[in-house]
Amino acid sequence: MTKLNDELRKTLVETARHVRQWAYVPYSNYPVGAALLSDSGKIYDGVNVENAAYPTTICAERTAVFKAVSEGERQFTAIAVVTKHGGTPCGSCRQVLAEFNPDLLVIIADEQGHIIKETSLAKLLPDAFLPADLKK
Ligand code: THU
Repeated sequence: MTKLNDELRKTLVETARHVRQWAYVPYSNYPVGAALLSDSGKIYDGVNVENAAYPTTICAERTAVFKAVSEGERQFTAIAVVTKHGGTPCGSCRQVLAEFNPDLLVIIADEQGHIIKETSLAKLLPDAFLPADLKK
């Protein structure tokens, strides 16, 4: 798990906090903002986008990953996730994030930007099923 300097950590949290306003959440009214840092230094943001057919909803974290990967990025250092009270990423998002970095730094913050928890994906998703498992 990489350590971030204070400035970068703040930028990630503030980016996730800022984009949260664009979450499309008419059903849950639970906006989530995410900001994913690539090894190249770019930040890819994402929000949750809900749908009248509820299960087709996409979470903020996966929006950020898919935006980044579709622009050629595959290596990530950290993700910040902002929700009202600092909720942690869902299981599906943990799995998608683990594909690219099972030891990703995960920063959880509340809507005021206070960091509630700083952890790693390895802790959030121990014994993850990873690309190498397909070759065993
Ligand atoms: N949600 C996220 O965007 N990320 C998570 O990790 C947890 C859940 C979204 C999905 C849905 O739009 C809303 O939060 C309530 O579940």
